[in-house]
Amino acid sequence: MSFRTPRPETHGIKAPAVAGSGRNLLSIADLGAEGIEEVLRVTDAFVEVARRPIPKVPALRGRTVVTLFAEESTRTRFSFETAAKRLSADVLSFAVASSSLKKGESLRDTVETVAAMGVDAFVVRHPSAGAPAQVARWVDASVINAGDGWHEHPTQALLDCYTIRQVLAERSGRPVADVGMKNFGGLRVAIVGDVAHSRVARSGVLALAALGAEITLVAPGSLLPPSLEGWPVSAVSHDLDSVLPTVDVCYLLRLQTERGAGSFVPSLREYTAGYGLTVRRAGLLAEGALVMHPGPMNRGVEIADEVADLPRSVVLRQVANGVAVRMAVLFLLLGQVVDGDAAGAVDLGPGFGAGDG
Ligand code: CP
Repeated sequence: MSFRTPRPETHGIKAPAVAGSGRNLLSIADLGAEGIEEVLRVTDAFVEVARRPIPKVPALRGRTVVTLFAEESTRTRFSFETAAKRLSADVLSFAVASSSLKKGESLRDTVETVAAMGVDAFVVRHPSAGAPAQVARWVDASVINAGDGWHEHPTQALLDCYTIRQVLAERSGRPVADVGMKNFGGLRVAIVGDVAHSRVARSGVLALAALGAEITLVAPGSLLPPSLEGWPVSAVSHDLDSVLPTVDVCYLLRLQTERGAGSFVPSLREYTAGYGLTVRRAGLLAEGALVMHPGPMNRGVEIADEVADLPRSVVLRQVANGVAVRMAVLFLLLGQVVDGDAAGAVDLGPGFGAGDG
């Protein structure tokens, strides 16, 4: 996937479309290391926008973004809607419960109907893996995967990478723009918990590995996928205590009880005893190691209440960065990128240079 090719105007008119052709973000694999780097560098500009008294730019004025969430969400939905509004796009928030899907209309008829009204992008969350890719075959608009079943959650991985990069910059005393992707090389990341049911883990592993991080999965065998073929991880462990002192980032996954994860562990109490980041275990982390979680957190299950609120826990920073990352993704898909290096080539609209405020 490349964001660099200026895309023609599209207004939701149905046309043959191939997912992953450069106009969609369906998987981290669409991006590769170069694409991830481009998103992170463009995000720098939108983090700067977020600090302004009026954090809004006209970059997507006249564009329409639909958020189509067929599964619950707090962070991702509000984050995309905030991002689109800060780019001055019109936002249509599709509520499944009050839509004609409830009368039996198919997903295909629904999205084609909405697309016919003139839509530039669909942000799709769906309980079925592959649903956003299917939507991308039906409409001419751009499609962004906002989480599909156990498959992927690419913008979560991008905001996680951005947050790590931001912390690396702060620790080195350098501006974030000076921290390149090579700084991820050799970064040791433990991804802990319900890997089997986690789209966050799939996208996170792909993104972090593409940037050169060394990833250890830590989980009971029952919460690992049946095969790890194609997972670019360095190691798998069932012993969290031994892994914690060795990592720079401890990334905790939510135990996905709504996907049946509860039946893969003897009890929540035993899961916490083996794999929860308790106060004692947090004490095993190296000084400076980060604690991350995509949210929503099960406090007292995969993460202790007190640990979730430690300074080393960057959960709310992940959320804050999510808006800027999603602004970058929407901008790169729907806006204009001046030829050449995306860093510094972001045209946010008249009178909105990086120094304005
Ligand atoms: N991290 C995440 O996807 O959270 P939501 O389900 O609240 O969107």
